[in-house]
Amino acid sequence: MNPRISDWRGKRVWLMGASSGIGEALARKLADAGADVALSARRAERMAELAQGMPNALVLPCDATDAAALDAARERIVASWGGVDLAVYLAGDYVPMRAWEFERQAAERMIAVNLTGAMAFAAALTPLLLKQERGQIAFVSSVAGYRGLPKALVYGPTKAALINFAETLWLDLAPRGIGVRLINPGFVATQLTAQNDFAMPALLTPDDAAAEILRGFATGAFEIHFPKRFTRLLKVLRLLPYRLYFPLIRRFTGA
Ligand SMILES: NC(=O)c1ccc[n+]([C@@H]2O[C@H](COP(=O)([O-])OP(=O)(O)OC[C@H]3O[C@@H](n4cnc5c(N)ncnc54)[C@H](OP(=O)(O)O)[C@@H]3O)[C@@H](O)[C@H]2O)c1
Repeated sequence: MNPRISDWRGKRVWLMGASSGIGEALARKLADAGADVALSARRAERMAELAQGMPNALVLPCDATDAAALDAARERIVASWGGVDLAVYLAGDYVPMRAWEFERQAAERMIAVNLTGAMAFAAALTPLLLKQERGQIAFVSSVAGYRGLPKALVYGPTKAALINFAETLWLDLAPRGIGVRLINPGFVATQLTAQNDFAMPALLTPDDAAAEILRGFATGAFEIHFPKRFTRLLKVLRLLPYRLYFPLIRRFTGA
């Protein structure tokens, strides 16, 4: 379905959302495996620290909601490396929210970072990938995008839309030799989930998540989802009619 990547030596990888969590762990793993990494997010100091000891690393601070900044970062990568082999969009924002807690500003920020930014990232990269006639683009969405879940009032819909966006992009780009990947993690212990006040089943470390992502790239799969013991259950729930899904999800989550 997609070109496989198992030998990372010399691969040029741009990570958007590399300053903490899964993105930081992925940057470390890729650099250890011999890839050249370009680190983007807003916190420049954290990325400068992370880049120490990573040969050929580029630090390109950038707000993912700023399309002009994305274009400028891409241009710096092209000037330094001549092109990109893989670009991964990990930038994400999460504010747990229930219907009676709706916060418009937080909702708009999640839509901007989780969805509009991902689209702007794709728009910034697609002409380059098509010109190269090779390369891949990946989006970190979430199993929270599979179906409605309590507390994911706005986060869930942004991730559901991102899943649909990646699917649609694959249909357009795969026939032209461009890889498109959708990465759907379950729960990972990062600053994003530290605010959760409920038990998170099958919780992974960012390092585990990064290892799963690299295992996924070694296959041609469109969707890289993990941990399987959790994501497979959610995939079954996704198939159920609403009259079964709603009571089951309320029972599992206690919501
Ligand atoms: N943790 C989980 O359980 C889990 C599960 C499923 C999916 N995910 C997804 O995984 C991705 C990574 O999340 P994480 O858990 O590793 O949390 P994290 O540590 O908070 O990472 C989020 C990253 O996004 C960056 N970011 C946020 N807003 C940005 C903006 N406007 N412009 C550029 N970068 C921005 C952050 O950097 P700056 O603040 O420096 O900009 C940070 O590098 C997210 O898309 C998240 O939705 C996480």
